[in-house]
Amino acid sequence: MPQLGLPRVHYAATDSTNERARQLAAGGAPHGTLVTAASQTAGRGRQGRVWTAPAGTSLLCSVVLRETTALLPLVVGVAAADALASLGYDPKLKWPNDVHLDGRKVAGILAEGRPAEGWAVAGIGINVAVRVNDLPTELQETAASLELQPAEVETVLGILLMALEARLGDPEEVVLEAFRERDALLGREVSWSGGVGVAGGIDASGRLIVSSDGSTVLLDAGEVHLGTI
Ligand code: BTN
Repeated sequence: MPQLGLPRVHYAATDSTNERARQLAAGGAPHGTLVTAASQTAGRGRQGRVWTAPAGTSLLCSVVLRETTALLPLVVGVAAADALASLGYDPKLKWPNDVHLDGRKVAGILAEGRPAEGWAVAGIGINVAVRVNDLPTELQETAASLELQPAEVETVLGILLMALEARLGDPEEVVLEAFRERDALLGREVSWSGGVGVAGGIDASGRLIVSSDGSTVLLDAGEVHLGTI
């Protein structure tokens, strides 16, 4: 497999790097094709949410993948955590793939794909040099930043791509174990549309195991909007 990051398309501004990458993937772009942007006008988050980042202060990137796995959302989260750990931070993973520093979200992942067409897109947003006070008020209580300089966005990108490449080559069990070591929810109360319970780790398919009312519930990332209590 060729290295991740080539070819690369960079936008000063675009709607969503995931949208651009999806279009390239559907048009036959090779494995590793990278789309980056200094700013997005319609950055997308999971479950229909928006992703907001002041221009030039965030890593906003999407990578086209031709070989993928059902665990891709977790693989990308673990890789993002690896990248931050190698920079000296102590990231935790809030299932399925939010990356947290000290209980605040510093990075988000949006993995999308068309397995039948042989492609997936891994979209990653990392608050590299964001000043949290510049974010919309509702995010200021929950967001974190690496508090680096805007010029360091490229450095973080390089480290992230290497981490992602390494994790894509790992056996599933190794990725799951790495996730478990950084699991922010273990033992915590969680709520979802179907109830409340206590998080007990992830299973071999990457589902969240929850003890609820004396029984075990397995939550699927695609279906569940999770809250913490
Ligand atoms: C989430 O936490 O809900 C996922 C956020 C994913 C944001 C990134 S930013 C780069 C890429 N392009 C997008 O439109 N979304 C992802």
